[in-house]
Amino acid sequence: MNVSNKIVIITGAAGVIGQATARLFAEEGAKLVLVDLFKKDLEQITQKSPLQEAEYLLVEADVTKEEDVENYIQQTVDTFGRIDVLFNNAGIEGDVSDVKDTTVKNMSKVINVNVMGVFLGLKHALRVMVDQNSGSIINTASDAGISSAVGLGAYVASKHAVIGLTKTAALECAETGVRVNAICPASINSRLMRSLEEGTSDPEQAREEYKSKIPMKRYGEPNEVAQVVLFLASDRASFVTGSHYNVDGGRLAK
Ligand SMILES: NC(=O)c1ccc[n+]([C@@H]2O[C@H](COP(=O)([O-])OP(=O)(O)OC[C@H]3O[C@@H](n4cnc5c(N)ncnc54)[C@H](O)[C@@H]3O)[C@@H](O)[C@H]2O)c1
Repeated sequence: MNVSNKIVIITGAAGVIGQATARLFAEEGAKLVLVDLFKKDLEQITQKSPLQEAEYLLVEADVTKEEDVENYIQQTVDTFGRIDVLFNNAGIEGDVSDVKDTTVKNMSKVINVNVMGVFLGLKHALRVMVDQNSGSIINTASDAGISSAVGLGAYVASKHAVIGLTKTAALECAETGVRVNAICPASINSRLMRSLEEGTSDPEQAREEYKSKIPMKRYGEPNEVAQVVLFLASDRASFVTGSHYNVDGGRLAK
């Protein structure tokens, strides 16, 4: 895909999808800026190949805080001179509860990380990319950004917002050559899915129900998400902007 030497920021890099994407980009020769809440988690993932051999910068940041976002953007520019790709991926699932039982605290937290975090990443990366007249941003939405998910109202609302922000930002910078897209993974084999399953009264049944909604009858693997991010980041996607790509085993085709 020729992302060799591209400067790639990944938020939520210590998480399951972030890590898989960091490993894939490292294999492809990209220079990485790995962002997450705790540096020690990032240090842990860089102990192993292929990240061990990659050129990378680790930045501790809370994506909901504008000063932290400005800092990871500035550190990237100071270290590497430009930003080619932002994988705007940090996100949380929140608690499992019907809308009528959802607390304001849970709603605020999920919206803050999943919407404010993505918005701040977009805002500050776009300032650099628009000046460069180049760059690709990939926001992590979800199948929950297109359809509904019972018990996940806050998450569903947040991921719908990510798609709206993606389309709007894409149009605002389309003439500059900067591209903005979203990905919509369905259930991926991950800590996040374990947490959603365990938030129900019968985790085993919940897992079977999640799988049964996917025509391929299985969860996706983190690397299957990373492969789509790689395509959208690469110059092969040069005419792709304002789109959302489903990585869902056919879930949204139903
Ligand atoms: N796993 C799935 O099935 C699935 C499906 C659809 C979409 N997604 C989305 O994919 C993205 C990654 O999910 P994942 O499965 O890798 O989850 P994960 O929990 O393994 O990783 C998320 C990472 O984000 C980090 N993070 C959380 N809040 C943060 C903050 N305020 N500032 C900085 N970092 C923060 C966490 O520390 C964690 O490392 C999320 O946006 C999630 O909503 C996941």
